[in-house]
Amino acid sequence: MSEAKIAAKAPVKVTLEEGKKYAFCTCGYSDKQPFCDGSHREDAPDFKSYKFEAEKDGDVWLCQCKQTDSAPFCDGAHKDL
Ligand code: FES
Repeated sequence: MSEAKIAAKAPVKVTLEEGKKYAFCTCGYSDKQPFCDGSHREDAPDFKSYKFEAEKDGDVWLCQCKQTDSAPFCDGAHKDL
């Protein structure tokens, strides 16, 4: 399995809407970070997006280094890169 690309060594703040479904990029190749734009199909076929539904309205910090163990959320893993 190939490794994820580090899209950025910092999380990004995103405003989520309760009940809305999102596709988080796990491969790091998307140009629409932190969300999937379908690039994984060509650039990282071992990966697929991580789909999730927002549990509430509000701001969250989503991972862009793609090393988090709490996808889609930042767990601080970027600090060790
Ligand atoms: S573009 Fe990265 S998972 Fe789809």
